[in-house]
Amino acid sequence: MSTNTERWGTRVGLVLAMAGNAVGLGNFLRFPVQAINNGGGAFIIPYLVSFLVMGIPLLWIEWAMGRFGGMRGHHSAPFMLDTMARQRLWKYFGVFGIWTNLAVAAYYCYIESWTMSYVMHSIGRTFDGMSQTEVANFFLNYVDITTTTTGIPFEAPVFYILCLLLNTWILSRGLSGGVEKTAKIGMPLLILFGVFLAIRGLTLGTSGASASHPDASAWAGLNFLWSPQFDSLANPKVWLAAAGQIFFTLSVGMGTIHCYAAYVKAKDDVALNAMSAGWMNEFVEVVLGSSIVIPIAAGYLGLDWVKENAGFGMAFQTMPFLFENWGPVLAAIAGVFWFGLLFFAGITSSLAMGTPWMGFLQDEFNWGREKSAWSFGALVLVMGLPTVFFYNYGVFSEYDYWAGTVSLVVFALAESIVFSWIFGIDKGWREITSGADMTVPIPYKFIIKYITPLFLLFVFIGSVFSPMGGDWAGAWNSLLAGNGWILDNGSLIKMVLNTGLREQIAATTDPAQLEHLQTSLTLVSASRALLTAVFVGVCLMVYTAARRRPRGKESGT
Ligand code: PHE
Repeated sequence: MSTNTERWGTRVGLVLAMAGNAVGLGNFLRFPVQAINNGGGAFIIPYLVSFLVMGIPLLWIEWAMGRFGGMRGHHSAPFMLDTMARQRLWKYFGVFGIWTNLAVAAYYCYIESWTMSYVMHSIGRTFDGMSQTEVANFFLNYVDITTTTTGIPFEAPVFYILCLLLNTWILSRGLSGGVEKTAKIGMPLLILFGVFLAIRGLTLGTSGASASHPDASAWAGLNFLWSPQFDSLANPKVWLAAAGQIFFTLSVGMGTIHCYAAYVKAKDDVALNAMSAGWMNEFVEVVLGSSIVIPIAAGYLGLDWVKENAGFGMAFQTMPFLFENWGPVLAAIAGVFWFGLLFFAGITSSLAMGTPWMGFLQDEFNWGREKSAWSFGALVLVMGLPTVFFYNYGVFSEYDYWAGTVSLVVFALAESIVFSWIFGIDKGWREITSGADMTVPIPYKFIIKYITPLFLLFVFIGSVFSPMGGDWAGAWNSLLAGNGWILDNGSLIKMVLNTGLREQIAATTDPAQLEHLQTSLTLVSASRALLTAVFVGVCLMVYTAARRRPRGKESGT
């Protein structure tokens, strides 16, 4: 039985920690890029619909599962699923709720460590007077570990390790003493920094236009995002991207919400807390997330530039250069605010990723808090160093694809089936509404039971069979004409086969590029083996724990 008796200190602390869990790099780096790449206003409606029919239901499911599990001494997904579904195999789906966090933390903390370094460089005014290309190259040199032109030898791995040490140390201080405290400091600062930068973004107008970019306009950026286009509703590619963003940004399908909710008291509300944290995330994403990078970049470089260069490098490769337009002092302040905001967004999320693993070890193997925190740090280091050293070889993206995209959908699908169909929607509904400080709208009972799992199933099938170029109509026509379904290289099937990389290898004539691509293929396969090994390892731990914990002896079932 769990020796874990930790609790959240206050309700405000809990909601801030949950909001901090959700509000992350995804809100500021991923959301703008997804929105731009999927047609701006065309993206917003599928995004909001996904939030309503998939995001909110999953928040309620996960909070309810978490409190239910926590009351029975479970603080991680495998044994939560085990108590809700008697069939033994379900607990292995719960392994996703631990593994995803380890794998995402590995590359997520890498980005987080850039933000630490960039705060330092902003204070030290490293970017003063640099040209746009120089600022962009600074980043390229930073992630290319072999060059040390950033000023500090091996800066990237050094900061990565510092970042992990900081995360581990905070985790070792416990839930209310570490995680909750960080959220109470970090979230208000994040909002403050964000509001400052958003006001700057929203008031820039056309004042940033220059001879080289005469049509630059912050308004053009905002208009592009906020003019809804209904024709995109029929495009599954946009739906997949929107659903994927909802997953990532809310941290649903991860296992962290379950874990945080496991530390609430039996009689505490989950329904309203879930909404408070979820809507806070949406505010930060939709309002602040869209009012910073896009308007500022479009305000100086024009919307066309933004459309062509949308990528998450924008935040690191372009923003420090654009801040220089505000004079050296304000540029330094804006740099500290921007990267500081990203840092707080990042750390309050990466801390969350540590908790399911720690909860699991504490519950099942009686490990202490400190020991389980340090084991998390060590494991993430081992898994993360390949993403640091081989960033340019696609290892980072490999992690992001399997852990940050596919696994979320698989786990969410499994948990929504367990919750509504095996545990049963009537019992499930009671779990959501008991102690609730709000009236949960009745239609959600229907949505949770039918719409959410179906929606998830479509998302999953959609990503397995994504057609070439996201052209679903074309693929159907080709199928009906007897020419088969032509898969996109981004479809799950082709991703498993590394088809994209193999085609590039076959097509290249440049020996240096060939060597780079072949190394990529080897490293991507090796990192996949490592991810698989960790997954199998966690499965074995769950298996061992299950044997040590005789079934039927659990309280309350
Ligand atoms: N929701 C976080 C973000 O938007 C990401 C995250 C993933 C947080 C997994 C916790 C667990 O960046």
